[in-house]
Amino acid sequence: MERTYQFIRIARHGDHIGTIQLNRPEVLNALNLATMDELVDAFTTYDADPAIRCIVIYGNEKAFAAGADITEMAEADSVEMLLRDQFRKWDTIRRVKTPIVAAVSGYALGGGCELAMLCDMIVASETARFGQPEIKIGVMPGAGGTQRLTRAVGKALAMEMVLTGRMISAYEALRAGLVNKVVPVEVYLDEALALADEVASMPPIAARLAKESVLRAFDTTLEIGLEYERKNFYLLFSTEDAHEGMKAFLEKRQPKWQGQ
Ligand code: CAA
Repeated sequence: MERTYQFIRIARHGDHIGTIQLNRPEVLNALNLATMDELVDAFTTYDADPAIRCIVIYGNEKAFAAGADITEMAEADSVEMLLRDQFRKWDTIRRVKTPIVAAVSGYALGGGCELAMLCDMIVASETARFGQPEIKIGVMPGAGGTQRLTRAVGKALAMEMVLTGRMISAYEALRAGLVNKVVPVEVYLDEALALADEVASMPPIAARLAKESVLRAFDTTLEIGLEYERKNFYLLFSTEDAHEGMKAFLEKRQPKWQGQ
């Protein structure tokens, strides 16, 4: 039986997809500390389950998440924020090895945009709006916004979004390279699940190592990144799936993945 949470809902989709729904609709899924704890628990539980090959996180049509919960920060001082160390939770999600797809509809703002960017791919509904509006409440992004947004969309647009708080539409996000695809709101979750199904139909160890290698491109030199990629490539030759995949190709049949 799936465990139950207060602020999120989890479910299985087929044999290999774990879903997480943010479930604080009354505050547009604002990410309070308790929600982040539940997210960390759900992500790490899925990540430890060999049957789960892809994770899909979503909110509702109106909001993926409208940011960190402002009510929890309004009275805090620097020392309290430092000791609270809330972004340690985000680091845990960053280390999840299972590929993650975010299905975004409505607002993905502040920490909501940062959470979507922490995922590996984003499927957006036509109504999705992405933004880093923290400056409008006197602060700035704190969960990776200045770094991941800049890497995703480039300096010009990132600077504009971070300095003015302007939200961008789903199509602007698509043009800027922030999201993978934009689809009608009625099907955004189905499309995200279909993308997750496609990832889940791949050999899982190769998918994990490939994810790790792509992410490495963001925090290392080309030289070290290439070395890292090469080691992972060689490592896959110890898996049964690599031999099955190549053999199946040569025998002109579909491969049967063992996940080993
Ligand atoms: N934290 C706490 N509560 C929030 C919230 C947030 N980030 N975003 C929305 N809510 C609450 C509202 O206070 C409101 O609650 P009440 O009904 O009790 O008044 C409810 O959600 C609905 O919101 P609105 O009435 O404001 O809805 P709207 O449709 O008029 O506006 C919005 C939508 C433009 C998204 C607006 O809610 C908004 O600007 N939200 C704040 C966005 C923001 O600043 N996010 C950044 C937070 S800081 C951060 O994320 C730091 C970081 O880097 C980690």
